Amino acid sequence: MTLAGAAPRTGDGTRPVPAVVTTSKSPSYALRAEAHRLGARWGLPVVERHRGSVAAARGSAATALVCTSEGLVAESARGRLSFHQGTAAKRLRTVRHGGTDPLVRAGELRPGDRVLDATLGLGRDALVAAWAVGAGGQVFGIEADLVLAVLADAGFAGPVPRPGSAPVRVRHGDSRQVLTAMAAAGEHVDVVLLDPMFTDPRASDHGFALAREHTVPTPLTPTWIELARAVARRRVVVTAERARPWFADAGLERLEGTRSGRWFRAPGGVS
Ligand SMILES: C[S@@+](CC[C@H](N)C(=O)[O-])C[C@H]1O[C@@H](n2cnc3c(N)ncnc32)[C@H](O)[C@@H]1O
Repeated sequence: MTLAGAAPRTGDGTRPVPAVVTTSKSPSYALRAEAHRLGARWGLPVVERHRGSVAAARGSAATALVCTSEGLVAESARGRLSFHQGTAAKRLRTVRHGGTDPLVRAGELRPGDRVLDATLGLGRDALVAAWAVGAGGQVFGIEADLVLAVLADAGFAGPVPRPGSAPVRVRHGDSRQVLTAMAAAGEHVDVVLLDPMFTDPRASDHGFALAREHTVPTPLTPTWIELARAVARRRVVVTAERARPWFADAGLERLEGTRSGRWFRAPGGVS
């Protein structure tokens, strides 16, 4: 279960299939090969598209992951979703031009760091972290939703991350379990990020709204912070709509000087 052994979860045949993999119409040989590679990697069925609709290929699955010449697209009855920089584009411009970013500041991120993003989503924070820690660093991303994990994994392997960024290794799963296993194995990182879903959807990053149908609403709890601190050497960085009464006991304090006031951090618990 630890990061070193991180591997995508495969379908076990006992649960409904959350997604199928298919291609755009009349696919090239390369696109079909890519669909089969993805299906094998994530344990998802591959549906040959031929000339039919995506909805037909999707069948009873909620989502079709469609390999296209422009990259991977997740299509559900509610819309299409793909990996792109979103709000990270502006943040990356700012830090590249010497400005500050709340994640970089809160985590005191520096070249060579190992960062664990325990709520990866579509990887905007991870893109910023990967650039900040540079090619000599490492970023691990854990995402509880399979479709988001597959999209992010494909996205990080594509052209979006800036040259000189750290590689981002994506794993599908519950980061509370991963953190527990890491602590038991004595495995550490420099910084852990927790950016869980806000309870008020209006408070979420606007660019993340489309992804909402896929997200898992794990509540932020003292236990999650404690698990993260048991693995972080320097900092646990947390976002929240507002400070909770238990934040001080969990070691969390607000990062001063941000416009949103939603960034908090606690010291790492590993000496
Ligand atoms: C607000 S989003 C994160 C956005 C991300 N920081 C970004 O910059 O794109 C929260 C994400 O955490 C995921 N999540 C919720 N509970 C989780 C858990 N226990 N383990 C891993 N991921 C989880 C949700 O599915 C969602 O995609």
